[in-house]
Amino acid sequence: VNRREVLAALGAAAAVGCGKDGTGNPPEPTDDGPAPERPPEPPPWAAPGAWDEAAFAWGVAAGDPLVDGALVWTRTTEPTVDLVVMAADGDGWVEVHRATGLEVVDEVVTIDVSGLAPDTAHQYVFVAPDGARRSLVGRFRTAPPADAWRRITIGATSCLGSGDPGLPCLDSVAPAALDAFLLLGDTVYADGSVTVDDYRAFWREVASTPPYRAAVASAAVVATWDDHEVENNWTLGEPSRTQTRVSPAQYDEAVQAFREAIPMRLGPGGSGFWRAIRLGPVELFVADSRGERSPGKIVSDEQLDWLVAGLEASTATVKLVLVSVHMTDHAAVMGPVQAEDRWQGYPAQRDALLAVAERVPGVLFVTGDMHFGAIQKVGAAGALGAELFEIAAGPAGSSLFAFDTILALAEESVRAQYLDVLETWNWARMVVDPGARTVQVELVDRDGAVVVSRLLTI
Ligand SMILES: [Fe+2]
Repeated sequence: VNRREVLAALGAAAAVGCGKDGTGNPPEPTDDGPAPERPPEPPPWAAPGAWDEAAFAWGVAAGDPLVDGALVWTRTTEPTVDLVVMAADGDGWVEVHRATGLEVVDEVVTIDVSGLAPDTAHQYVFVAPDGARRSLVGRFRTAPPADAWRRITIGATSCLGSGDPGLPCLDSVAPAALDAFLLLGDTVYADGSVTVDDYRAFWREVASTPPYRAAVASAAVVATWDDHEVENNWTLGEPSRTQTRVSPAQYDEAVQAFREAIPMRLGPGGSGFWRAIRLGPVELFVADSRGERSPGKIVSDEQLDWLVAGLEASTATVKLVLVSVHMTDHAAVMGPVQAEDRWQGYPAQRDALLAVAERVPGVLFVTGDMHFGAIQKVGAAGALGAELFEIAAGPAGSSLFAFDTILALAEESVRAQYLDVLETWNWARMVVDPGARTVQVELVDRDGAVVVSRLLTI
């Protein structure tokens, strides 16, 4: 039995209740009722050697999973490292990938591991040249195949600033053993940086913060950015009154530091920040609402066309649209204040996207940026988006915005748009059931307590 056959057998064993029509598409929800839960994973792999915190202070991460692999990453002071990847096998773990002597460039190594079994738990570790000292042990799951039929558990947050130092809010992420963990922007607040070394300093700081380090090591990360990874309210073009212009050179330095810090694949547009990732019955559409703005447009025409066409063509039962800034129209509460920093300020593009999102079944927006947690309707009653939900996740650590205080002054008809508003540090846990076509949303606070729980039918 060769390795490929072992992997194929593992994959077959791991795949849960595949679609029954042979098309690769999930079965129709009405056929199945609630989808099954993910089977349990083995207890954590006991990796040999000892964690060298000095050499591997900045942790490990996996990113942008595929059905047969993921990007795996570490940042280290070692000149070279070995990589060992283990796959769940019954109650234990079996080695499925090993690479030796990987060159570390600018303290970073990112490896595109492929040939793995689908929908399978993996653990991985980077080992120093002496073979004894190692990184922390990371975990990720390869993506379920398109016709896999089970519930998918996804975590999301945003805005990891200094309002709650040490980011205790993220302590409860790793125990959730997520299928994917979404970082929706403002992972660092690198304002004032100019050179790549300036930006790297901020990324090193967050990467060595224990709750962040544990969270990104615990599940495949899918990330986008907002403004503070470059500069507060930055633009490459002619700045408006509230914007700060950055040069193309500074932009390149910030992008380099981002790519060194978060493992992510290049998207179809070449900018790399918008792309789609399929997780069985769920498809993640990662938007870039920051890097392609121009007068009157929050995204490029190319990105909007891709998003619209992708939603229309998707065979996934549930489509999560990941956006750094809110899609919700807050006009009734905030009027035009800061509208240019969310989709509300770009009505032509917002209307075009929402028209499709209303027509295509199973669309849910997941966003960050505004420093309050919420489950809200994208549009006011009777308006475009009134039947669409948005989960506002985070902030994980940034200063809080007392949106609930403002909202309390609004009329009841206005408040009806907001199902839950939370003024505390949080991350969102979402259990997507493609069978019932529901998303159980929980907002988890800095003590690990579920402070909002709501079942959405989408
Ligand atoms: Fe923020």
